[in-house]
Amino acid sequence: MRLLNPCLLAIGALSPVVAALAFDGAVGFGAIATGGTGGTTVHVTNLDDSGSGSFRDAVSASNRIIVFDVSGYIQLSSAVSLSSGLTINGDSAPGNGIGIMGGEVSASGKSNIIIRHLRMRQGTLDSDSGKSAFNMGKATNVILDHCSVEYGQWDSIDAVSAVNITVSNSIIALPIGQQFGAHVETGPSTFYRNLWVSAHNRQPLSKDDTQYINNVIYNYQAAYTAANTGGDFSHDIINNYFITGPSTTSSSDAFYQMNSGQSVYSSGNYLDSNKDGVLNGAAYNTVGSATVLSAPWASDSLALATLSAADAVTYVLQNAGASPRDELDTFVVNVVKSFGTDGTLYKNQANTGVSNGGYGTV
Ligand SMILES: *[C@@H]1O[C@H](CO)[C@@H](O)[C@H](O)[C@H]1NC(C)=O
Repeated sequence: MRLLNPCLLAIGALSPVVAALAFDGAVGFGAIATGGTGGTTVHVTNLDDSGSGSFRDAVSASNRIIVFDVSGYIQLSSAVSLSSGLTINGDSAPGNGIGIMGGEVSASGKSNIIIRHLRMRQGTLDSDSGKSAFNMGKATNVILDHCSVEYGQWDSIDAVSAVNITVSNSIIALPIGQQFGAHVETGPSTFYRNLWVSAHNRQPLSKDDTQYINNVIYNYQAAYTAANTGGDFSHDIINNYFITGPSTTSSSDAFYQMNSGQSVYSSGNYLDSNKDGVLNGAAYNTVGSATVLSAPWASDSLALATLSAADAVTYVLQNAGASPRDELDTFVVNVVKSFGTDGTLYKNQANTGVSNGGYGTV
């Protein structure tokens, strides 16, 4: 369990620290999520879209811990709506784990949800291009950890009007359609040790107070974005590594639409903009025309920033996403390892050339 420095707690700054963590090692504002703790353990026993033993049925009631007795892809015929008070443990699945394909996983309007080691891959199998791979709009107290979120159509992650959220140790990659990463409003939110790959924008779009620590962002067109019209927020942006790729037109759009109304503590960030196949960036801590904070706005941000930007690249490439790492995540990680030479913004998952129509096999 990661214990925070009690001296930091004493100063009374805004803090996500809570008595009980969602799980050992949970960090950030979503670590407050209680999930299905104390509830019933429900087994997913088949890969069916619905009916007895299905994932859809398992998540249809609150206060549950969801475990998987099967592995492989569950193909949705429509969005699946989670209940409040759920823990979804994808790493309970045998073999190579579990994936959701072809529809949105939605926690919209719900609270206290913990999701770990789950692959959420919407793609064009979903005819509704207005939906996202994972939707936590208007949700409260949600933590996503070691998830693999790919092929989102509207956003990879929709977190508009979401309160107290964390996305950690996850892969957020290859959005299609709008080609957006995550859209967060209200907050606060924490993005920690994630791998963001080949998106047009919103990695994330932070119209909220945000912690952004040890993320790796590859082949972006615009990466960390506040939007000039979204309101004035505080952002701790620490020890992240921005790496340009073939789709990057302006490396300085690592920080995008960061106006003087935004207050930013920026430290230890790196940018590798030469696309030369080697990780050899330089310090890059000027965040648009944002107002510079001399100390983080959130009390535990420095304590969370344990890795340098370069070490975050090593760590994230090795550990981010659902485990065990499957074909699609391996494809994504290999694109990043080209350090500038490989990478495409896709409109359709099939164009990746990955097997199974782009979804790969789990
Ligand atoms: C959000 O988290 C804080 C603790 O960091 C807590 O005081 C607050 O009640 C939470 N908000 C909601 C809506 O649960």
